[in-house]
Amino acid sequence: MMTRNELIERLGAPLGDLADDRELYDEAVELRNRTVGPKVYLRGLIELSNRCRKNCLYCGIRSGNSAVERYELTDEQVMAAAEYAWRSGYGSVVIQAGERTDREFVERIERLVGRIKSESNGELGITLSLGEQSRETYRRWFAVGAHRYLLRIEASSPELYGRIHPADHSYDRRLEALRALRDEGYQVGTGVMIGLPYQQIADLADDLLFFRSLDIDMCGMGPYIEFPGTPLAEVPSAFSREERLQLALRMIALLRLLMPDINIASTTALHALHPQGRELGIAAGANVMMPNLTPAVVRGNYKLYDNKPLQDMDLRGFDVALDNVWGDSRHFAARRSAASTERSR
Ligand code: 5AD
Ligand code: SF4
Repeated sequence: MMTRNELIERLGAPLGDLADDRELYDEAVELRNRTVGPKVYLRGLIELSNRCRKNCLYCGIRSGNSAVERYELTDEQVMAAAEYAWRSGYGSVVIQAGERTDREFVERIERLVGRIKSESNGELGITLSLGEQSRETYRRWFAVGAHRYLLRIEASSPELYGRIHPADHSYDRRLEALRALRDEGYQVGTGVMIGLPYQQIADLADDLLFFRSLDIDMCGMGPYIEFPGTPLAEVPSAFSREERLQLALRMIALLRLLMPDINIASTTALHALHPQGRELGIAAGANVMMPNLTPAVVRGNYKLYDNKPLQDMDLRGFDVALDNVWGDSRHFAARRSAASTERSR
């Protein structure tokens, strides 16, 4: 069992050469292969809309950015992307959008989730990534067939969270939403950005311990990348882009060692910093990739950070799980069966 000090020591080792971390990556990959297996699970990413009511200080589609053209996919575009995922044998789709809580939006998601469920004969898994919502909304979306939810804590330190968000955003509300998702029955995923201004090595160690204490099922973490024009882009980070990439890979590997049976995504932001970024993530212990299925005509508008890759990924060379395997987190299954044994006693 790794202690906080050990985590700090491993994260804080000199940065500069990825080859120095080879042993750590190999250990993580070996453990991954023994627990969740060597396969890479695919989630087709559908970026439904870049409208957002939030104004996070780091994000390219924050409400305060009037330079970005706002778009919304039509139902037909969403269904076509979902069908593509299903026909290609992907286990599931992720529907992601900026945060909106108005009734029209909540009802639209409910309708779309229901349609994807029925039109794929219940075979396509549905993950939502739609921000903080009320318990009631989470319940409604779960009832029509969504079963996983991604909501990053962004920074598990309340103080750091406060520095990268406007004053009316709330760390406690975010935590409360994560708890509500768990209570409503979702597999819960969270994550953080790595290399943020003000962030220190000890914060990253604490992020890993936070994931473990929350007993999460999935994790998506990626390097922070400045988006020009956002308030946070004016503040220097302690880490260069190369260092953030290396730190992100260390975080993936260490999380695999801490929580062997969860699903860990190799995120697009890794690719934005390195042409082989996603491959490096898999080679450091991740087991999920999210090919972008958003129609190309609007893809350029969903830019959370600078240099976000727009092209499709090349899947040659990966041992991908096809044939509509959901690839549910083993961790979730283990917790569920423990709970039902508990109940039947
Ligand atoms: N750099 C890296 N990741 C970012 N995100 C938003 N802005 C940035 C950025 N500048 C991430 C956040 C959010 C996810 C959808 O994208 O972690 O949860
Ligand atoms: Fe909106 Fe998410 Fe960007 Fe924050 S990070 S502004 S909630 S899209």
